Amino acid sequence: MVLLEADKVSRSFRIGDQSSLALSEHTLSVQAGEFLVLTGPSGSGKSTLLNVLSGLDRPSLGEVRYRGRSLADMTQQEIARLRNSSFGFIFQTPHLLPDRTVIENVELPFHYGCPRSFSEIRRRCLQLLEYVGMAPLTSRYPDTLSGGEMQRVVFARALACNPEVIFADEPTGSLDAENSCKILELLKKQTANNCSVIMATHDPGGIFYGTRVVRLEKLHANV
Ligand SMILES: Nc1ncnc2c1ncn2[C@@H]1O[C@H](COP(=O)(O)OP(=O)(O)OP(=O)(O)O)[C@@H](O)[C@H]1O
Ligand SMILES: [Mg+2]
Repeated sequence: MVLLEADKVSRSFRIGDQSSLALSEHTLSVQAGEFLVLTGPSGSGKSTLLNVLSGLDRPSLGEVRYRGRSLADMTQQEIARLRNSSFGFIFQTPHLLPDRTVIENVELPFHYGCPRSFSEIRRRCLQLLEYVGMAPLTSRYPDTLSGGEMQRVVFARALACNPEVIFADEPTGSLDAENSCKILELLKKQTANNCSVIMATHDPGGIFYGTRVVRLEKLHANV
């Protein structure tokens, strides 16, 4: 089943009086349960494509559809709801709120898109932290964690609302081989639950995990 589609999607950025093309008429469809790897040189548009597919950014031309519905027809509120309840995000640098504990950080999505009772939320988040091997550190603050530990907390947070799609932008970029492997294995596990993973990476180890690899090429055109 096709979950997400990009139909001739282009994105250009205005820099001064020039327009620079980052993505040109890209067409792609993502099946449920697929582990899609986006690769290609720096500047080839991997992050741009992820941002457009996930509704964080809008294409300059073309259309993105989720379950057949164009994101362009959705209100900002609907897109925000989609991002909070159907999508999970992992970026290269783990973004955690410094003044919240590990478990409070994982609980954050429940304050936006996944309404449940407090005890239910706690139970679910403890389960998730156990799942990513972070159960002993639930009351720590982010600045006391290693990069790999932080990324696993981000991972638990990304899973909070049982996302249908996980967008991962260089999720192993700041990790050593052992921690990279842990994150990639966790990503792969999600696809067994029919969750799709779309991951941008340069990491040859990461490419190996893809059920499909799409290579983007750098565009030099200024339009
Ligand atoms: N906000 C922006 N304003 C102007 N140009 C941008 C902006 N974001 C991206 N670009 C340009 O778009 C092109 C694609 O960038 P993008 O970040 O998508 O590449 P990437 O493939 O993710 O690269 P990397 O592997 O280094 O992360 C680059 O030439 C970049 O300079
Ligand atoms: Mg990038």
